[in-house]
Amino acid sequence: MRRIGVLTSGGDAPGMNAAIRAVVRKAIYHGLEVTGIRRGYSGLIAGDGSPMELGSVADIIQRGGTVLRTARSPEFLESTGQQQAVSNLHEMGVEGLVIIGGDGSFRGAAALEEAGVHTVGIPGTIDNDIPFTDASIGFDTAVNNVTDAINKVRDTATSHERIYVIEVMGRTSGQIALAAGLAGGAESILVPEFPFDLDEICERLHRGVKRGKLHSIILVAEGVGSALTIGEEIKEKTAMETRVTILGHLQRGGTPTAFDRMLASRLGAAAVDLLREGCHGRMVGLRAGEVLATPFDEVFTKEKTMSAELYNLATILAI
Ligand code: ADP
Ligand code: F6P
Repeated sequence: MRRIGVLTSGGDAPGMNAAIRAVVRKAIYHGLEVTGIRRGYSGLIAGDGSPMELGSVADIIQRGGTVLRTARSPEFLESTGQQQAVSNLHEMGVEGLVIIGGDGSFRGAAALEEAGVHTVGIPGTIDNDIPFTDASIGFDTAVNNVTDAINKVRDTATSHERIYVIEVMGRTSGQIALAAGLAGGAESILVPEFPFDLDEICERLHRGVKRGKLHSIILVAEGVGSALTIGEEIKEKTAMETRVTILGHLQRGGTPTAFDRMLASRLGAAAVDLLREGCHGRMVGLRAGEVLATPFDEVFTKEKTMSAELYNLATILAI
């Protein structure tokens, strides 16, 4: 193998740059050439790639977003788009491709594998909804962003003695809500993975007020539904002053945490090693501190599980 390619796809995640840096530097260390493909599968279909040297990844380890940019590419869902992508890879002389993204991006990688392209996936999404890895790149930074936001909302919530309903990202996953809710001391955490009873939550709110609580924070994962609707229902049921905050894309920005940079560096290097060893059609992940490679087929058949222990703990501690 002489040349590998690297691209970022789907929603960006802090730490993707650290992963790109690791792929480029590890590959060059082993005498390989690297082509950086811009704008994910859209750029692959357009043949938008260029060589990456050591200096091209200087000064990016601390930057959020992705210097290769990213895209959601409807054209790549069609076989004509995939065929064009394969022929561009051949033209660029790319013999192995590292794809940094989430579940959708790995399905794209599996389609390329079927067409004979050697691919390795690196989990990069704030949602942490990928099985066979304890964390995906960007999750830790997003959780810290949300925890910081909870701290700030808490200040004003206490001053005004209000209920705050905060909506966080995660698509169909409640992982961000659970981790940030536990770290931020939220009174209730609503996630799609576990059922909840709004009447019970409102009773807790009343009990809290009776005990002299000055505020309550309710964290809602977007997969549960709109925080605006939930906030309205809580206001009606409790007759307490309620405000809703939707954190949106600020969760996805900012400098990656040290954890995300280390995760990205390890997984980026591991992806290059896999391609060098002729091992492909897999996703690299970190489980209990160890790097492991899991075939895409297995990744697709398993759902990421949510820790009932953490969920119960968050409920107990917010009593
Ligand atoms: P993520 O990778 O973060 O889950 P998306 O679900 O938006 O983000 O997927 C990123 C891109 O991967 C899509 O825009 C599409 O080009 C490609 N993709 C998604 N699903 C498939 C699929 N089933 N087959 C081929 N390509 C796919
Ligand atoms: O997958 C990452 C994510 O931020 C989800 O949490 C969210 O639902 C989605 O992407 C938002 O997508 P977009 O940036 O396209 O609005």
